[in-house]
Amino acid sequence: MAESQLNVLIIGGGGREHAIAIAVSKSNRLGKLYCAPGNAGTAAIATNLEVDTSDHEAVIASVKANQIDFTIVGPEAPLCAGIVDRFNDEGLCAFGPTQAAARLEGDKAFAKNLMTQALVPTAEARTFDNLDRAKEYIATRDTPQVVKAAGLAAGKGVIVCEEPFEALLAVEEIMGKGKFGDAGKTVIVEERLKGPEISLLALIDDRTMYVLETAQDYKRLSDNDEGPNTGGMGSVSPSPHATDELLVQVQRDIIIPTLDGLRREGAVYRGVLYVGLMLTAAGPKVLEFNCRFGDPETQAVLPRLKSDLLELLHACATGRLEETEIEWDQRSAVCVVMASGGYPSKYSIGKPIEGLNSAFSDTVAVYHAGTQSHPPVTRTSGGRVLSVTALGENASAAQSKAYEAIGKIKFDGATYRSDIAANM
Ligand code: AMP
Ligand code: GLY
Repeated sequence: MAESQLNVLIIGGGGREHAIAIAVSKSNRLGKLYCAPGNAGTAAIATNLEVDTSDHEAVIASVKANQIDFTIVGPEAPLCAGIVDRFNDEGLCAFGPTQAAARLEGDKAFAKNLMTQALVPTAEARTFDNLDRAKEYIATRDTPQVVKAAGLAAGKGVIVCEEPFEALLAVEEIMGKGKFGDAGKTVIVEERLKGPEISLLALIDDRTMYVLETAQDYKRLSDNDEGPNTGGMGSVSPSPHATDELLVQVQRDIIIPTLDGLRREGAVYRGVLYVGLMLTAAGPKVLEFNCRFGDPETQAVLPRLKSDLLELLHACATGRLEETEIEWDQRSAVCVVMASGGYPSKYSIGKPIEGLNSAFSDTVAVYHAGTQSHPPVTRTSGGRVLSVTALGENASAAQSKAYEAIGKIKFDGATYRSDIAANM
């Protein structure tokens, strides 16, 4: 019997959601596709809904009105605010963890405590909700520290310090001056680790786990990893550091004990778990968990997926992951982010974008993030504007194609790194 068609909603409006939308649009099972809020890219393949995604009741009303069968939640904010729990209460199907399981991302103090209890390798850390106690502790440290706001801070709540004393300034900024608002009421002070980073995504339901192809994210604004941290300026998949042995070790020593720890807290993880790792001399250690697909890792990983993404995500959300199989394209993918001049600080928007159609090809995808359609032109509307991904026989071939495509796209003030996937 043919499986039923699914009307699908994707929540979010970044490059990650456009990449998910393109992959889902290839599925035989897709009925109608909706995005909320979406962007100019998703508008070309889906209906963008004007609904405030922080208003869960409004989202649910829209899902019912449009007869949407399955909702894929892209960003962390609605997951941590419990949108999937509300869907479950209504008997509606959604992809993503419940609020209790999403605490792995939403509350770094909870995640750190869980990792410590479960003996999951991570940076040694202490948690504080009192500024003076935090300062006293930092004064006893003679190595560089990293200070993290415990709550959600749009990926910006981490201050990596070069010198031990800088951590004093960091806690002062976060706890004393409220740099990240309530997200910084509790802070984590942890040892600064050294080594290459790797991002690992795993689809998880009650019984089954599939580790997806790996990626490496480039978080700093400028070439040679200089400049401020950003939401991510590019990515490459697979990561040059991924080995079969590493993936087995991460599942055995990190993911399984973490899921067991969550179960002890009464939460079962269903969805995609993002594990941010640093490969230290003492082995892989967890930097962070996210409860969703990474951005811009997704823009490099999904173009390599040969299997039906909609089927996989729906199976995961309904506890049928074991019935599915995953097949990958063995080529490499390189994603370069084009941002507005001034990002991640102040930037201006509304710039017309030229060359979008000429950049696109069989092996090049242009994913939109901060874009808005004003027919006949598309204009910039955010900090990160586009993610341009190319597939190639190896990272260097993919890299050349990605930069060739970028050369065809123009907007006033466009900035991007020129060293994504260099020296691999
Ligand atoms: P997070 O959001 O926790 O992943 O932190 C953002 C970035 O800060 C990471 O991708 C790392 O580059 C860096 N970072 C976080 N924790 C540490 C740590 N303990 N040691 C060194 N760098 C870190
Ligand atoms: N690329 C890092 C993140 O999605 O949080």
